[in-house]
Amino acid sequence: MSVEQVRGWIAQAKSIAVLTGAGMSAESGVPTFRDAQTGLWSKFRPEELATEEAFRARPQFVWDWYVMRREMMKGVQPNAGHVALAGYARRHPGRLALITQNVDGLHQLAGSPGVLALHGNIADDKWLDRPKACCTSNPPKEGRPPSCPVCGNLRRPAVVWFGEMLPMDALAAAEQAAETCGLMLVVGTSGVVYPAAGLARTAARHGRMVVVNPEPSDLDDAAHVVLRGTAAKLLPELLA
Ligand code: APR
Repeated sequence: MSVEQVRGWIAQAKSIAVLTGAGMSAESGVPTFRDAQTGLWSKFRPEELATEEAFRARPQFVWDWYVMRREMMKGVQPNAGHVALAGYARRHPGRLALITQNVDGLHQLAGSPGVLALHGNIADDKWLDRPKACCTSNPPKEGRPPSCPVCGNLRRPAVVWFGEMLPMDALAAAEQAAETCGLMLVVGTSGVVYPAAGLARTAARHGRMVVVNPEPSDLDDAAHVVLRGTAAKLLPELLA
């Protein structure tokens, strides 16, 4: 099955959904998570860095890691894949639902409207515990991490950690899109993290699902077509 035939499916579909993962941003220079050599999880242990327990146990260690990742994001630009998705949405308003697991904000930076960010945004912070009046009426005290000067409530990165609930609204809208789209493109994800990966399986049951990935992924079995290639190369071809 070629790119040309998938382009035909895209044109036929009543609406399309796109689910992206870290591979979407690899060609922008953002490391993926599970790539054997360069992936973040090949160097760091997720259970030590991406859980609430880990943050409560070692807030400075975890905070510094996010500061390092934010530094890495400085100057990073959307690639041709991000740009192709934003361009398609501009040319076909309301026809594309863009769902991402990425916290890098590159879809939004490329100008994609209404991005359903399932795992939050690494550029944002929020309170660790439900904020009290003291937390919101005083500027946070400087620190790693910053904290409430009165009760000590900590600031934490506004991303979804393992074991945490996804943002309800974004997840509900993503499930709706997966159930109603005629076609879902699944780009740059290993497909091992749920509930995000479950959206691709839902789309495959209701319509067509196409995987775009240079390597085998856990969703290849459910895909109607697997296109072995990269996001920045294939998305401009598929969406032109
Ligand atoms: N274009 C397309 N796909 C690519 C590219 C590329 N240029 N480069 C790598 N890939 C693919 C890899 O082959 C791999 O299948 O992207 C996938 C990245 O997989 P992961 O690193 O597991 O990232 P992701 O699937 O987004 O992880 C899901 O896990 O760690 C948590 O919360 C984090 O959102 C993340 C979730």
